[in-house]
Amino acid sequence: MKGIILAGGTGTRLAPLTKVTNKHLLPVGREPMIFNPIRQLISAEIKDILVITSKEHMGDIVQLLGSGAEFGCSFTFKVQESAGGIAHALALAEGFSNGGRITVILGDNILTHSIKSHVDEYLKKESGAYVLIKKVGDPERYGVAALDEQKKMIIKIEEKPSKPESDYAVIGVYMYDSDVFSIIRTIKPSTRGELEISSVNNEYIARGKLQYGVVNGGWTDAGTFESLQYANSLLLEVKNNIFTEKNNENTI
Ligand code: DAU
Repeated sequence: MKGIILAGGTGTRLAPLTKVTNKHLLPVGREPMIFNPIRQLISAEIKDILVITSKEHMGDIVQLLGSGAEFGCSFTFKVQESAGGIAHALALAEGFSNGGRITVILGDNILTHSIKSHVDEYLKKESGAYVLIKKVGDPERYGVAALDEQKKMIIKIEEKPSKPESDYAVIGVYMYDSDVFSIIRTIKPSTRGELEISSVNNEYIARGKLQYGVVNGGWTDAGTFESLQYANSLLLEVKNNIFTEKNNENTI
């Protein structure tokens, strides 16, 4: 299993903090934001990691992360020329994934507990996709999952609905088989002009191939001033460590 961190986009909701730097380099707790998704992948034993970002900030990202030796992993870097959406960025990972399965994390998603149990669960199936959901107070900010809880299935995902059908946000951690790349080629840009990851996930639903798990512990994105502040408080409390399942101690 390989890992992909999507750290492109424009970060406009955090301007002027993002005027001269990339959102994922802003501090969250004691570390730059992007360290949390990196630690997440490593905690799930995923150590071959592609980082995708914009060309303006690639130099800074490479300078910060280096080869991966400091983290005990290996980084590959790729430029997304324009902020065409999450699925647009993910399409750049096709060669890197080399036909294998992948775990994708959005660079502004912060989690306190390891995703390892979800990755393990996903790997028990031979194919398909797996997303994580979390109950939130402001679902209209996210991709929202309408659930059939008895069948443990997601019926559909709506991106930023004005009238959400549930309180469950689909967070920015996704696991895919190699079909994801042919699916991305079939989707069309949304009204905000982006190739949406929710369109990709809805195609997996249509094929009966989308599983889900519920997030353990704390989660937030860090893309707005309020959520960045919350992300800070979550990670300061645990000194930027990630809880693993084994002993519930900070081990990463
Ligand atoms: O945080 C979870 C949410 O993330 C999901 O619930 C939504 O379904 C999903 O669409 C996404 O929503 P946002 O509107 O908050 O995504 P945003 O545009 O802020 O992008 C999130 C990350 O994705 C960003 O930190 C970097 C990466 N990204 C985004 C875009 C638009 C890229 O790498 N390239 C891009 O072109």
